[in-house]
Amino acid sequence: MSEPVPHRIDRTELVWPGKYDEQGALLEPPRLNLPFQVLESFAGGAAGWRNRLIWGENLCVLASLAGELAGQVDLIYIDPPFLAGRDFTHSSGEGLRTQAYYDTWGGGRDAYLTMMWPRLLLARELLSERGSLYFHIGPNVNHYVRALLDEIFGAERGTEIIWKRTTAHSDSNAYGTVHDKILFYTRTARAIWNEQFLPHDRKYVDGKYTGRDPDGRRYMLDNITSPNPRPNMTYVWKGHAPPAMGWRYSQQKMAELDAQGRLWYPDSKAKRPRLKRYLDESRGVPLSSIWTDIRPINSQAKEDTAYDTQKPEALLERIIAASSEPGSLVLDFFCGAGTTLAVADRLGRRWIGCDLGRQAVQTSRKRMLESGARQFEILGLGSHERKYWQAATFGDCAPDTAYVGFILDLYGAQAQEGRHLHGRKGQALVRVAAIDSPVTNAQVEAALAEAAERGVQEVHILGWDWDLSVRHRADVRFLVIPREVMQSRAVERGDIRFFELAHVQLEVIASGTGVRLHLRDFVLPSVEPATGWKWSDYIDGWAVDWDFRSDPFTSRWQAYRTRHNRELKLETPAYTYAAPAVHEILVKVTDIFGNDTRHLVRWESK
Ligand SMILES: C[S@@+](CC[C@H](N)C(=O)[O-])C[C@H]1O[C@@H](n2cnc3c(N)ncnc32)[C@H](O)[C@@H]1O
Repeated sequence: MSEPVPHRIDRTELVWPGKYDEQGALLEPPRLNLPFQVLESFAGGAAGWRNRLIWGENLCVLASLAGELAGQVDLIYIDPPFLAGRDFTHSSGEGLRTQAYYDTWGGGRDAYLTMMWPRLLLARELLSERGSLYFHIGPNVNHYVRALLDEIFGAERGTEIIWKRTTAHSDSNAYGTVHDKILFYTRTARAIWNEQFLPHDRKYVDGKYTGRDPDGRRYMLDNITSPNPRPNMTYVWKGHAPPAMGWRYSQQKMAELDAQGRLWYPDSKAKRPRLKRYLDESRGVPLSSIWTDIRPINSQAKEDTAYDTQKPEALLERIIAASSEPGSLVLDFFCGAGTTLAVADRLGRRWIGCDLGRQAVQTSRKRMLESGARQFEILGLGSHERKYWQAATFGDCAPDTAYVGFILDLYGAQAQEGRHLHGRKGQALVRVAAIDSPVTNAQVEAALAEAAERGVQEVHILGWDWDLSVRHRADVRFLVIPREVMQSRAVERGDIRFFELAHVQLEVIASGTGVRLHLRDFVLPSVEPATGWKWSDYIDGWAVDWDFRSDPFTSRWQAYRTRHNRELKLETPAYTYAAPAVHEILVKVTDIFGNDTRHLVRWESK
């Protein structure tokens, strides 16, 4: 083993175990250029830029975006886990709580900083010359993160904002922490900046705006004497002698103000006229770095999606208005319930959001649809991300064997040699599908034939993706490998659940020259039915592509439950085809656990 090289310290920096390797090389972000795959697109809108909701681990996502969009993002807002030491959930309207994301770190602060560092380096690369980054952070690590940002952006580029997020809060034997910080850094000194203002408070208005025009317009009086000597502005105005330094305005400007009724005249020529400053023209008080006027989301508010840690839209409105312009590209790579995306869309910005949680992606997807946004796509890195994880986790030596062993272990099966089968669980033989290709019927038949040779009746197939022709059958259990196996915290906490592939029953109803679909049944074999629940209660939403030719799935009709509307339509309106032909209708059902089930129907239109 080579000797560690001591790190030379020639400037102030934050160092933690993990920042440098044993040879003294600084931790660098990976240079990936993985291709994105469209998982779902939405019909509507013109061709051109499509906003993106990306389901994936953000390191791979940022590294892949950097190849395409370096220097093009005007605003990044992130609200990552805060090292809070607890995990967060999402709740459906029926009280079902599912894991949303983890904020417990095996390696504590060091692991947190090691996670954050390469992401921030990539974030800076993505920013345009006029770009800014806002890093929303809680009290546990904000000072460390600030040191990282100083190092990456330069201390002179940063400002710290305090957001008072709650009112009363008492911590035992300490001051109640009622604020978060938002660390604001600009890439250069030329960042987009639209100054924001707060309305004047009432006491100030009542004390200052004491004048009223006959129409009720309120004003305050300002003096019109020049602050510096201005001999050319020393003239008599309507019988009023000039001040010693002269007037503030030229004679022509004075006449204009007078014609507009903006000059106030005293009752004596010995006193001076003054300028009326109207309340309704005042932009208010310039916003400073302490924000106390934005309240946390009220659980009855329309914007509440029941996603733990969701931030108020008003906060994002302020940030997006201050540091971007219409058409700017806004990025949030810890997007959660999609607050940044919803506000960016409403304010006419382009956007990219990324999250690794299925509940986060499903919540953001519904939020965007509900707000009427259609100009977006849901993307993922699919098997490329999995291959990256496989190499990073198992190294280069026999990664396939190590991967199969890892999955078998999580499934509670023992490894066993075979051609198409890899393990045994109780009476069943188990196949773990390849990491980079969908399970096909041919693989299913081969596994069954091998099991029959070995005198075994029961076969379990674990897979990531499924060829559309693979259908429910009595002699095989199809189990989905959840993407959470790639999250070490989920694995450590034993939160890995292999759901059996669900199956859908649909009625296809001819309707004139068109067709309607009616959902008749949805079976989630791995879920014990809860008392009083109907099959449809397990569905969170469904979407239809009336003319699926091949990927990507284009959602042309959707129905889904929201926090405030728990009803779900089970029948589509009629869809009419332009010309008679055989069509492939693809239906995607998303269950309340966030899993998708796809079902293909062939239909001949007359
Ligand atoms: C505090 S929440 C964001 C909430 C969001 N600002 C909102 O208003 O809804 C943090 C999010 O980061 C996501 N996350 C954590 N680690 C991630 C990673 N490595 N890649 C992508 N997303 C991640 C979590 O799933 C979680 O949804």
